[in-house]
Amino acid sequence: LAQRFSHSAAAPEKPSFGIAFDIDGVILRGRSPIGGAPRAIRRLYSEDGTLKIPFLFLTNGGGVPEHRRALELSQLLGVNISPTQVVHGHSPYRELVDRFENDLIVAVGKGETAVVMSEYGFRKVLSIDEYASYFKDIDPLAPFKTWKVGQKTNSYMSAKVHPSYDVYSERVKGVFVVSDPVDWGRDLQVLCDILSTGGLPGSGKGDQPPLYFAADDLEYQAAFPSERLGMGAFRIALESIFNQINDHPLKYTSYGKPNPFVFKNAASILEKLLMSMYPNSQSSKEVKDCLFSTIYMVGDNPKVDINGALKAGHPWSSVLTRTGVFRGKDNDPQFPADAVVDTVEDAINYILEKEC
Ligand code: G3P
Ligand code: MG
Repeated sequence: LAQRFSHSAAAPEKPSFGIAFDIDGVILRGRSPIGGAPRAIRRLYSEDGTLKIPFLFLTNGGGVPEHRRALELSQLLGVNISPTQVVHGHSPYRELVDRFENDLIVAVGKGETAVVMSEYGFRKVLSIDEYASYFKDIDPLAPFKTWKVGQKTNSYMSAKVHPSYDVYSERVKGVFVVSDPVDWGRDLQVLCDILSTGGLPGSGKGDQPPLYFAADDLEYQAAFPSERLGMGAFRIALESIFNQINDHPLKYTSYGKPNPFVFKNAASILEKLLMSMYPNSQSSKEVKDCLFSTIYMVGDNPKVDINGALKAGHPWSSVLTRTGVFRGKDNDPQFPADAVVDTVEDAINYILEKEC
């Protein structure tokens, strides 16, 4: 294999391994770093701050553009993380832009979902907050809600008073659940409206527009001591209600881990990253082989992170931490990881000891 050569006599050896880190339950809980993450991640950089070991963050979360997340993580961890090192559950949505050229789409979830989709190139995007706000009484419970929606979270939305097209006649051609939905009750109602009527709430029954979920996590680890309901739980709720009020089942596509294509994509990003770190070495095309003998997935969720690495096969290997969804003493019986450790710092120690 070609990955063992170095790009100049004095230069350090090019690493033959890469690492993908899950975020929630491994690096962070809520917004706080856990498991010695800042100190451990710094070991992947040289003293002058340049990247030594190719790594990225492979999370099913999201809701902000990748460059914004990279900045947040850089600040929290005290290292320089580039936007290419952040892969969100919704990152593959950018590949769907051509399919929805001039179509109105609705983006669902926490954060700046309309900004995310607009930056991917979708031209007619409304967040579900904004979309719902145009339909008077669509949420009969709105008068009882003590909070205000869409005020601080969507700068894209506040910049425009009203879209240039007619939301009351233009059908929604696609629904993208970008991040964890905030107002489940309102969102379930509005999505059932859109999806049952061919994309126009209040009109008669019609064909279901395509529906995408950025991930399908039933639960994930946030700041609260026990797991929280994730996008997969929302999907189950929407699907059961939709199937009760329609005579045909809900159709949808889910992205995110554990889909093998997510791991394939992560591997190719890591290869590009490695080549940018060692520009004088042979390209992967010339080598015609994977540049890595091992890529480690460090995750906290056996069903999602470890299952994904298992399904992806070579060169993926998995390290399960005990800081999130998994808290077991031994390995997970259903999706056993190649190694089980307490924290992300232990995971990095294990990997570096094995490889260096
Ligand atoms: O909402 C985020 C969650 O579903 C999973 O995030 O980083 O554990 O893949 P992560
Ligand atoms: Mg996780």
